Amino acid sequence: MIVRRIVCLRKLLFTRKFTQNTTEIWDSFLRNGQITSLKKFIGDHRDVVNAILRNTEITRNHLTPELKLFLLTNKCPLYHEPFIDENEKFDSLTRNVFQDPFWSIYWPGGQGLTRFILDERETILQCAMQNKRKRALRILDLGAGCGATAIATRLVTGSCKIIANDISKVACVAIAMNAILNNVDIEISWKNLLEKSPEDPYDVIFIGDLLYDEEIASTLIAWLENAHLRGTRIYLGDPGRHGLTKDLRKRMKLLRQYDLPEEVRKENHGYDTVTVWEFGRS
Ligand SMILES: C[S@@+](CC[C@H](N)C(=O)[O-])C[C@H]1O[C@@H](n2cnc3c(N)ncnc32)[C@H](O)[C@@H]1O
Repeated sequence: MIVRRIVCLRKLLFTRKFTQNTTEIWDSFLRNGQITSLKKFIGDHRDVVNAILRNTEITRNHLTPELKLFLLTNKCPLYHEPFIDENEKFDSLTRNVFQDPFWSIYWPGGQGLTRFILDERETILQCAMQNKRKRALRILDLGAGCGATAIATRLVTGSCKIIANDISKVACVAIAMNAILNNVDIEISWKNLLEKSPEDPYDVIFIGDLLYDEEIASTLIAWLENAHLRGTRIYLGDPGRHGLTKDLRKRMKLLRQYDLPEEVRKENHGYDTVTVWEFGRS
């Protein structure tokens, strides 16, 4: 009994210390950061921000250590709670925010794609410029999750317009927090763009790890086909998920393959590498 109490007390103290560190770092970023439009957005979602601060860690432990990200890592107590919705010890806010926390993981596809953007900025921009449009390039990160791909793109491009899109509003709050943490400004949208053919003339579209099931893959590919016909350059990062069929591989050009870090391999049983493809350039 006493031993159990000590364990519980230790757990509580660990959780409190963990939360304090993340919150302190965040407060200093908010005080000194310049990104006023994003600050306003997260100001409208304070509860979600607090739940993210309480339960995630700021980490650079991934393929793109240039970026700091709020993620659910194995140091976070919540990481070890697989069935959050069935577990009454969590308040309803935490349950809502972490119900489908795709945004709290930096997926292998996103990590590889973002590494590629940081390594190959010149190639990507030169290809996009071939369209010679008389306006700033428009770059979309579709299914942005934690927002790493959009944030890295902002870091390596000048006057381009960068849009991070995710249908999850909680993901959008996380993206805004991660953008502030890295001191970059991006546009954020939660509209389901896949419901209609691509309306906006995007010059480049990035897709990180969105081929996770066949249903979303088939909708997505039809949509990308349309964008490709309008001259958009499309890059995908994927570790080899179900949606990456033989047919789809034939319609893409393999650009680069990266080994995944040990921690990412453990979390994604069976995936050792991530591949970056260009759509429509077989
Ligand atoms: C597996 S995660 C990948 C996140 C990120 N790209 C990465 O690689 O780390 C897939 C993300 O796509 C989002 N998503 C699913 N369907 C979408 C849609 N129709 N439009 C935009 N985002 C979508 C989910 O909310 C989720 O955040």
